[in-house]
Amino acid sequence: MKIFCKNPFPRIIEPIPLILIFTISSIFIILFSSFFFINDSLRCQKHITNNFGYVDSSTNLSHILFGIAGSTKTWNNRRHYVELWWKPNHTRCVVWLDKEPPKDQPWPDTSPPYMVSANTSMLRSITRENVRVEMRLARVVFEMYRLGLEDNVRWFVLGDDDTVFFPENLVTVLSRYDWQEMRYVGGVSESVDMNVVLSYEMAHGGGGIAVSRPLAAELARIMDGCLRPHENLYGSDARLWACVTELGVSLSKELGFHQMDIRGDASGLLAAHPPAPLVSLHHLDWVSPIDPRIPNRVDSLSPLLSAYRADPGRALQQTICYEKTKNWSVSVSWAYTAHIHPWIVQPWELLIPTRTFTTWSNSSDDGPFTFNTRPVGRDPCERPLVYFLDRVEEVEGGPVVTTSYSRFRPGQECGRAGFREALKVETVRVVSTKMGRGEWRKVS
Ligand SMILES: *[C@@H]1O[C@H](CO)[C@@H](O)[C@H](O)[C@H]1NC(C)=O
Ligand SMILES: *[C@@H]1O[C@H](CO)[C@@H](O)[C@H](O)[C@H]1NC(C)=O
Ligand SMILES: *[C@@H]1O[C@H](CO)[C@@H](O)[C@H](O)[C@H]1NC(C)=O
Ligand SMILES: *[C@@H]1O[C@H](CO)[C@@H](O)[C@H](O)[C@H]1NC(C)=O
Ligand SMILES: *[C@@H]1O[C@H](CO)[C@@H](O)[C@H](O)[C@H]1NC(C)=O
Repeated sequence: MKIFCKNPFPRIIEPIPLILIFTISSIFIILFSSFFFINDSLRCQKHITNNFGYVDSSTNLSHILFGIAGSTKTWNNRRHYVELWWKPNHTRCVVWLDKEPPKDQPWPDTSPPYMVSANTSMLRSITRENVRVEMRLARVVFEMYRLGLEDNVRWFVLGDDDTVFFPENLVTVLSRYDWQEMRYVGGVSESVDMNVVLSYEMAHGGGGIAVSRPLAAELARIMDGCLRPHENLYGSDARLWACVTELGVSLSKELGFHQMDIRGDASGLLAAHPPAPLVSLHHLDWVSPIDPRIPNRVDSLSPLLSAYRADPGRALQQTICYEKTKNWSVSVSWAYTAHIHPWIVQPWELLIPTRTFTTWSNSSDDGPFTFNTRPVGRDPCERPLVYFLDRVEEVEGGPVVTTSYSRFRPGQECGRAGFREALKVETVRVVSTKMGRGEWRKVS
């Protein structure tokens, strides 16, 4: 049986039909690109907001220089997240350390090259240790700018040692900006309290901060002058922001940068990602392993990363649809999870993250967050059946990727009649065509 369903994600690119094929033990969801457009399917509404307009298709990964704020003492414990995304001779990255690593501990081959932050008279005059550390890290852009001069760098991107970047998607996002203008690109915190303490207008550093070359040049010029010790500033990102603000540059907010100022189980957030390329994840040591079947936090990212490699642009993009004869509501967060609700959930509701997580500073269950959230169902009959990614298949070089998600049984199941048939579904298979980088250009 095939059912044609609405798909909210392509609403913002092209109308794309979504087909579900049910069998006893698995569901096939087929996401065709408009190339395979099928006439009798339900059509999705076209994106009506403005297109972004500017696209710099010449920017590629080689134009980005990453700078990771590290420390010699902790690098060995923190390096695993960076090593997930950094590829030798592919991503350019420098880890900035406070001092030379000890001679008896060779720098790992799997880590990006390191540099030791310069000692300046300004830093020496600062006595408070935390302020000195923040100043050192805020100056990373300045030091990177000097490095990048000869190297054709267009964007300087700062991250923490526990930031996981998705570099191909970062290129997609940055190519929406003219790198020859002064640009400051990033995201804010998920927790309202953190934005209140810091700012809604500041790129929160763990999610990543992208600075265009002309802005880096200006920052390098004024840096030590604008980095005044200031008691109300907390963190190197706030200190950098002070300098950016002094130059009259405001934040270009992008929804794919994730500071992840949340605690607990992040799956509710990652199952309902906004329509924007996934650029970064941060604070992964502060949430449970994102795949609850894999206890090691670093390893629990591998299913997502393996699908990401097959189709970077589609990672975490949400698709919803309905099986109308059975009254099922289905939601897929591509490369991560699938949910089947054996009842009808309104489409706008499916797009709202469930509060499986809490706020950052007071671990409040009910926010406030900077986006809408909805409560987790209290008993098993109010919760969807949950599936997590376990297989990615593609024909080498072909346009199609098949991802399979298998049932996760955290506890008691609902015994209600309406659930019985859904409980037979062990696997959700999603067949999709790879997204072209150009498709994101149609999204504002
Ligand atoms: C990236 O762009 C530069 C031109 O600025 C070009 O020389 C290089 O080959 C490109 N790299 C890739 C991987 O496309
Ligand atoms: C990276 O490039 C350098 C020089 O081109 C080469 O010596 C080295 O083997 C390469 N490393 C990897 C991991 O490909
Ligand atoms: C930086 O300065 C401090 C104190 O002046 C000194 O102990 C340290 O060795 C210096 N580091 C480098 C890399 O020069
Ligand atoms: C689906 O819901 C409609 C409206 O509530 C109801 O009339 C219909 O019987 C339901 N179908 C199934 C298979 O439960
Ligand atoms: C947490 O902080 C927020 C905002 O400051 C507040 O609205 C909320 O009531 C607090 N929650 C708890 C459980 O303390």
